Amino acid sequence: MALLRKINQILLLLLVLTLCMILYNKVHKGSTLKNETDDSESPEELEEEIPVVICAAAGRMGAAMAAINSIYSNTDANVLFYVIGVKNTLSRIRKWIENSKLREIKFKIVEFNPLVLKGKIRPDALRPELLHPLNFVRFYLPLLIQKHEKVIYLDDDVIVQGDIQELYDTKLTLGHAAAFSDDCDLPSTHEMVRSVGMQNTYMGYLDFRKKTVKDLGISPSTCSFNPGVIVANMTEWKHQRITKQLEKWMQKNVEENLYSSSLGGGVATSPMLIVFHGKYSSINPMWHIRHLGWSTETRYSEHFLQEAKLLHWNGRHKPWDSTSVHTDLWKSWYIPDPSGKFKLNRHDS
Ligand SMILES: *[C@@H]1O[C@H](CO)[C@@H](O)[C@H](O)[C@H]1NC(C)=O
Ligand SMILES: *[C@@H]1O[C@H](CO)[C@@H](O)[C@H](O)[C@H]1NC(C)=O
Repeated sequence: MALLRKINQILLLLLVLTLCMILYNKVHKGSTLKNETDDSESPEELEEEIPVVICAAAGRMGAAMAAINSIYSNTDANVLFYVIGVKNTLSRIRKWIENSKLREIKFKIVEFNPLVLKGKIRPDALRPELLHPLNFVRFYLPLLIQKHEKVIYLDDDVIVQGDIQELYDTKLTLGHAAAFSDDCDLPSTHEMVRSVGMQNTYMGYLDFRKKTVKDLGISPSTCSFNPGVIVANMTEWKHQRITKQLEKWMQKNVEENLYSSSLGGGVATSPMLIVFHGKYSSINPMWHIRHLGWSTETRYSEHFLQEAKLLHWNGRHKPWDSTSVHTDLWKSWYIPDPSGKFKLNRHDS
């Protein structure tokens, strides 16, 4: 009996010791973690990380930097920037970030290897700049981002005026791999669309005279969407093998020339319009105010632009290299290139 009691006591002691050790480990870990991050007071480090993917192409790196600056300056959220470039530009991207106010951001520089696109792009578009390999990065999100389920992708020609957390909180319907902004979503943009003679339906992107396109059974008057702002679910993306599907439609275009190449954004947009047809969630329209680069004359009202959460200069007229509308809204986020290579407004200088 005495022996049993003794054993019980020893067991109890062991249990208490173990608990103490677990507790100690927890506390200890907590304190080292705090010291590592050293942003001291903020409980922010415990918040979910928001991964934002942006491409930084050699000729227009200033665009990506301005976009990143605008996002970072307008949120308290824990944003991790994935800045994507091709091999020989990576060190320049790093320098720009580390030698400017952007040194405070959390970022990863990721190399995109254009070899994955071999044989998948037609070389004959009217706007060769649209064929830049980085335009296709959005097709490969799960290969670039591994540890996050929900991801934001943004084109480089955007400025974010709202809190990116709001965009990140966009609800995706179960079974949808992505959310986009519909091209018919906002009455206030219809005027713009009409006045610049733009198409906002599938007809503008797919050649409906081709049998392969007809066989899709998509109505040509379906509203298109703009894949310059994407909120995506990587689990669902992989599950539906979206990347493989997009590659298939790139390849088919090489063989059969299925896409209208006359309209801006066509090359990367068309495969997405096919693959995501009827299977995407919506982004709040104010989170994707578009077409600022379509014309040098058509403008939105200042009041409307103040309400906008995200501005997109899609189209030919970019705020950094020629005349564009609402350039001031872009320029205030611009960060000069520490290496001096990138210059604003080549036109008027
Ligand atoms: C963490 O920081 C505190 C005060 O800043 C310091 O006293 C402590 O030694 C640090 N702990 C570690 C593990 O570095
Ligand atoms: C992503 O998709 C998976 C599979 O459908 C689902 O279980 C998960 O809840 C989704 N996550 C988000 C953040 O929507």
